[in-house]
Amino acid sequence: MKRYLVGVNENTEIIETDVLIIGSGIAGTYTALSISKNIKITILAKEAIDVSNTALAQGGIAVSLGDGDSPTFHHNDTLFAGAGLSDEDMVWLLVNEAKDNIKNLCDLGVQFDMTEGMLDLTKEAAHSQRRIIHAKDFTGKEVCDKLLTSSIEKENITLLENMFAIDIITENNTCKATLVLDQKTGKKKIFKSKYVVCASGGFGQLYEITSNPIIATGDGMAMAYRAGATLQDMEFVQFHPTVLFHKKDKSFLISEAVRGEGAILRNSFGELFMHKYDKLKELAPRDIVARSIFSEMKKTQSDCVYLDITFKSREYLKERFPKIFNTCLNYGIDISKDYIPVAPAEHYCMGGIKTDLTGKTEIDRLYACGEVACTGIHGANRLASNSLLEGLVFGKRIANDISMNHLRIHLDQETYLTSETGENYSKPVSEVEKGIKRTMNKHVGIVRDKVGLMIAKKEIDKTLKLLCSYKYTSMAQMQTANMAIIAKIVINSALERKESRGAHFRSDYPSSDNAWKKHIINKRGELDNETF
Ligand code: SIN
Repeated sequence: MKRYLVGVNENTEIIETDVLIIGSGIAGTYTALSISKNIKITILAKEAIDVSNTALAQGGIAVSLGDGDSPTFHHNDTLFAGAGLSDEDMVWLLVNEAKDNIKNLCDLGVQFDMTEGMLDLTKEAAHSQRRIIHAKDFTGKEVCDKLLTSSIEKENITLLENMFAIDIITENNTCKATLVLDQKTGKKKIFKSKYVVCASGGFGQLYEITSNPIIATGDGMAMAYRAGATLQDMEFVQFHPTVLFHKKDKSFLISEAVRGEGAILRNSFGELFMHKYDKLKELAPRDIVARSIFSEMKKTQSDCVYLDITFKSREYLKERFPKIFNTCLNYGIDISKDYIPVAPAEHYCMGGIKTDLTGKTEIDRLYACGEVACTGIHGANRLASNSLLEGLVFGKRIANDISMNHLRIHLDQETYLTSETGENYSKPVSEVEKGIKRTMNKHVGIVRDKVGLMIAKKEIDKTLKLLCSYKYTSMAQMQTANMAIIAKIVINSALERKESRGAHFRSDYPSSDNAWKKHIINKRGELDNETF
């Protein structure tokens, strides 16, 4: 794979900023707001600033505030869900620093639901306690709105929309600048900065069915990989068990908080089934619930199962889950009377750019935060509502590190040149993209095996070979190249891990194996030798 997707020349516009943040979700904006006010920050959004995975998050944020709860319990639950692969020290940071960061969010004006003057706590799967703070069922949107409003108000922060980050420009393993496509003008721009914080989210769009927004095409991971960063745990892809299954919508989440408030799952015959799979039933870890649903769908030869919350009153459901209530009603489903058709869909990737406890990657001056990063916290399966929290805790850590060190760095005067090769794109890019999604859905989903993974590998190799010979002229083409690179890494890692653990289930190796209690890492160079 080429080091840089496209070339730049001496005429490419250069813009200077102290810190460039790629992504406008919780990780990007909270990091920006936590950096010292004398540091100039530019946040790039791939689409409109309010399009992010965070904005779609329903459930909430996990924090041990309840009577009888403690960071230790939260730590233990996170490790249990992580199926033996979570980094315990990182998890301690997460649970111990949760409270202070939530306080900061409240100070920024985020309105979480309250009961008798205290933050209301709900339950989600695999949490031993009620510890999820929430804003009804639109927590992410409430958080995003407040963080974006605060960012817009800050003089040191500039938010730019429709900016597609193409590549991180490095020299001697140091991040020097970022090449960006301004989608409005079609022009490339170089953002020269002391630091880059990659907070661009995950890769849900690699799959045909996902709860993720269209921007989630793994660009940050692909870009960091090309620059020489390590990608870790890429085989662990989380499928949310309950995404609406409706002919008009297969990406709308039915929050786990609905099960937290007692909803039960029924198969297409109306029978309860979770008791057959796990003693925690509907509140078993997410990977177990998703696999159980998958298995029940197969057994009953049905495309979905049903979530039943009809025993709660209409008034309660309208008040507690207004977004879910109204969205379902729009599709003719009255959740106070009707079962909700649901099926698993890709939701979150546990893997990503490997970072340390300050969010640093292996490339000097490049940080990663949020879903794009792999701090090691989530291990093989993320505990519900730990993702927004991770964005906060590590966003703050990155901000502290940058605030302390930025004076030591001076931007140099060099210009950046990278060469452009290849022929013009011939196949419609949308077809290539559809092919990737089909392959991932069919062979790299909830249940995998060697045969399917080998087929997927062959198909993606063919796609990559084709993509490698092209000269990219549009965002869609570059994005597809990123998707193919990440697909290849997920497939390779899934093939390599010959066991089942957390979200990675191999029907040909159905048990966990202690010999595999280790991480699979991917570094540039390894793929190149293999296929192209
Ligand atoms: C949900 O509301 O079910 C999603 C929460 C999460 O992904 O952590």
